[in-house]
Amino acid sequence: MRIDILTLFPEMVRGPLSESIVKRAAESGVVEIQVHDIRDWAEGKHRAADDYTYGGGPGMVMKPEPVFAATEAVVEMSTERGPIILMTPIGRRFDHDVALELAEEERIVLICGRYEGFDARIHDHLATDELSIGDYVLSGGELPALVVVEAVVRQLPGALGCADSATEDSFAHGLLEAPQYTRPPEYRGWEVPEMLLSGHHQEIDGWRRRRNLLLTAQRRPDLLWSAELSDDERKWLAEQGVDPAESGQ
Ligand code: ADE
Repeated sequence: MRIDILTLFPEMVRGPLSESIVKRAAESGVVEIQVHDIRDWAEGKHRAADDYTYGGGPGMVMKPEPVFAATEAVVEMSTERGPIILMTPIGRRFDHDVALELAEEERIVLICGRYEGFDARIHDHLATDELSIGDYVLSGGELPALVVVEAVVRQLPGALGCADSATEDSFAHGLLEAPQYTRPPEYRGWEVPEMLLSGHHQEIDGWRRRRNLLLTAQRRPDLLWSAELSDDERKWLAEQGVDPAESGQ
């Protein structure tokens, strides 16, 4: 997969991309990530990328010319095609399913906004998708773009050391992942649950699944409602006082 990030603050994104799993995935050829400075395509003495809002209003708006020019040039840098995504709080909500959807693409282009937002023609005639990472406003799309990159890259085959660890992540089965333990078996008097030390892998799997169900019921009952549960699991949850049919309604 190739990922292009367009931003007015390239150094804000380069640092995090050169660490840990994303860095390793890039080094091993699982993903190629290129960062581009939108200002390189801005014209005039001051290379302005923003301007006043027509009709008045606070703050500045990102100008269409540099964003269109940068995006069109970047798209042509590779023959692979894919969505052109604006990072914006008015986009559709980014979540695990969207990460899986994007991981299927050969290429994604992420455009980071700054100031009060983009000129509307960028939304209407350049972007093919818009993503928000949550209902809060950040000062720019750089951190959201990094969130998208990390979540998507985790899903690419070969990105993680252990082949199936992304499939065990919270949300991968529609449930939250229950707490995990490592050595020592006792720390300050707090013990690792005995089941986990038993070595009975099948029983441990069942025990973990029930822990996942309970944690999800406690913290995110809305997820339980749409999770795939067996009849036995529904019965077990009912015994614990949880009715999946009523959660999140
Ligand atoms: N830019 C500013 N806030 C944002 C958000 N919540 N999601 C995506 N892009 C943004």
